[in-house]
Amino acid sequence: MSANIKKIGVLTSGGDSPGMNAAIRAVVRACAYHNIECAGIYRGYQGMIEGDFKEMNARSVNNIINKGGTILKSARSKDFMTKEGREKAHENLVSNNIDAIVVIGGNGSFTGGLIFNEEYGFPVIGIPGTIDNDIYGTSFTLGYDTALNTVVEVIDKIRDTASSHNRLFFVEVMGRDAGHIALNAGIGAGAEEILIPEEDMGLDRLLESLRKSKASGKSSSIVVIAEGDKIGKNVFELKDYVEENMPEYDVRVSILGHMQRGGTPSCFDRVLASRLGVKAVETLLEGKSNYMVGLLKDEIVLTPLENAVKGKSQIDKELIKVSDIVSI
Ligand code: F6P
Repeated sequence: MSANIKKIGVLTSGGDSPGMNAAIRAVVRACAYHNIECAGIYRGYQGMIEGDFKEMNARSVNNIINKGGTILKSARSKDFMTKEGREKAHENLVSNNIDAIVVIGGNGSFTGGLIFNEEYGFPVIGIPGTIDNDIYGTSFTLGYDTALNTVVEVIDKIRDTASSHNRLFFVEVMGRDAGHIALNAGIGAGAEEILIPEEDMGLDRLLESLRKSKASGKSSSIVVIAEGDKIGKNVFELKDYVEENMPEYDVRVSILGHMQRGGTPSCFDRVLASRLGVKAVETLLEGKSNYMVGLLKDEIVLTPLENAVKGKSQIDKELIKVSDIVSI
């Protein structure tokens, strides 16, 4: 283990996700285990610029493994996008004797970490934390599994009322640029159609599919839509469009929104967070920097941070086929 790293700073950045607290806990305790210091940095990069740090030890993270959100708070810092902001952040890290940082967040947060490393040679390790699961180099990001379970649970409830009233529901789920939540939760919840940014099914095919559903004897239907889908109409416009073209449908819209980001993390997310947190600290102690820790084929692996940022996470095309087959 390298003797150069004596103190690690940990922060959460960007949209929060369930499991971030479990990852903070793992980082703090791995530091304690390896006899190095750890500082919590509040409000992501913004707290780094403002010097909002707190020393943390193994007991600072008691009873947080089961909590959603992030005890360190999160932010999308505009100031960190400026050279002056990053300079101030660097000064604060140096004056607090912090030798490396672990950034728990998504693509934007990793981009910030990369630029910071390029400018100051400051060691950075990323832990993928976002419900969207849209990061290259890991099959699962922290919070994605929990969000899937939340979405499925809610759609099950929507299905009850959809079925009672013979209605068609458009359910919008999160996923700014990626359809992982929509595709997997859609299959899990038995959706008739799933609209995702990666595949533009087009309005005609949607109508065709809804016609077929009706003709096959379905009295109610659920269509799951990723917020970033490319069909060209927002979810309310889609409702109007379908009602105009198919007056036989009584359509309702449900936008699940930020409830998907909250709640108790699933066991999967807690274990993943623990593994990634330990690996992040040990990677730094081995003298490595500029990596993201991730999970591929159930192994914790390192991906260069640059590849994680530039690479594109892919949806599983097999799932589209499965969805088409099981929704007839
Ligand atoms: O990146 C995660 C995410 O939840 C996206 O799915 C969503 O578009 C975005 O964050 C919402 O961000 P905000 O919290 O700023 O509304």
